[in-house]
Amino acid sequence: MAADIAPDELSTREVISDPYPAYTQLRDRSPFNYEDLPAGSVPGIEHPLRSWALLRYGDVYGALRDHETFSSANNPLVGKAFPPLVLILDDPPRHTRFRRLVNKAFTLKRIEALTPWITSVAEELLDEAGTNEVDIVQRYTIPLPVKVIARLLGIPGDEYESFKRWSDAFLSLVSMDNVERMRSIQEMVEYFGKMAAARRARGAEDLITALVDAEVDGEKLEEWEILGFCILLLIAGNETTTNLLGNILNLLATMPDLWQRLRSDRSLVETVIEETLRYESPVQRLSRTATRDVEVSGVLIPKGDLITIYFGAANRDPAEFRNPDEFRLDRDLRNHVGFGMGIHYCLGAPLARAEAKISLTRFLDRFSVIRPGSAPAVRQTMTPVVFGFQQLPLVLERG
Ligand code: HEM
Repeated sequence: MAADIAPDELSTREVISDPYPAYTQLRDRSPFNYEDLPAGSVPGIEHPLRSWALLRYGDVYGALRDHETFSSANNPLVGKAFPPLVLILDDPPRHTRFRRLVNKAFTLKRIEALTPWITSVAEELLDEAGTNEVDIVQRYTIPLPVKVIARLLGIPGDEYESFKRWSDAFLSLVSMDNVERMRSIQEMVEYFGKMAAARRARGAEDLITALVDAEVDGEKLEEWEILGFCILLLIAGNETTTNLLGNILNLLATMPDLWQRLRSDRSLVETVIEETLRYESPVQRLSRTATRDVEVSGVLIPKGDLITIYFGAANRDPAEFRNPDEFRLDRDLRNHVGFGMGIHYCLGAPLARAEAKISLTRFLDRFSVIRPGSAPAVRQTMTPVVFGFQQLPLVLERG
């Protein structure tokens, strides 16, 4: 067992790179109040940001189901670490209206239609990666989701570079200064504004056209909502999927027997993806605000306090998953909260699952062996929100 971890250490780089020992030690004490962000870690946050940590499955599930008490709006980091985001940082009734509209645009049919194209991108990236030791994060797990979102939104291939730059500007919370970030965001807002205007004038076969056209009860999306949604897709859809792909490949590189089993039995591919979402959840935590005094597992959380929902800890709670620290393919995985639960359940879940399935299938077809490289694998430690690799060297052997 690792040395004792204090609640205030939950946002340290060490815990971000491997949060699971901390969850094991602290779960029974939760909910507890802790320092979520030290003062000065985000421009404009001059005092430490305190929050209540929910680590138990039952508490997390209950909070996700009760959006009236656990509000997604009024996040204290809006305007400081990120711009106001539609949908994910909103409550009903606005959330309901918006979600109904985008559900109409973000259909399974649209995702299924993308499958052959995603497959060809996966093939292309793997052709370029070769078979020696490769950093799979740079070569595959970053470019694939970025290209997919660009295509979905209808961004032309030659503008892919700026798209990637904007995406990075959002994600590099710590490594990019605010002025540069805001400039990049402004550039992106202008770009999407022009795209939306062009689609209004003449439609195309893409998501922006579907958003411009979407209507519920005669109501359409407003301009700022369309732009906000494009930006949300960039943030919500890229790094999350990158980390899922990396976590799957890393786990399989350390389980050669499972790799061989999968090569001969592809019916297990989907289970491997779901178990990875539970076992190494790409999204570890997100915030809510209490709209009233509320008791959680016998602890009173006052109205107005910040609450942090730990999806990653809930997915390893022994009260819900037997032997939670074992990666197993014989579990009932229907209730994992890797994509959340309730009204904010991940809109992109079918797309993320499709990207993971296509990727894993392509890797299995091509490589008889996949194993850790000689250079070290490095977990990202920039943000506690996601869990994944910054660098993942793998040796890929064709068979
Ligand atoms: C493995 C990849 C992904 C994971 C683990 C993931 C995880 C999540 C989680 C946990 C939530 C719930 C947020 C909350 O309760 O506050 C969420 C919401 C959301 N996700 Fe994902 N996501 C992934 C991929 C994607 C992709 C590919 C897209 C879009 C292209 C996407 C778009 C969204 C959106 C728009 C929401 C907000 C939904 C709402 O508030 O109604 N996600 N995601």
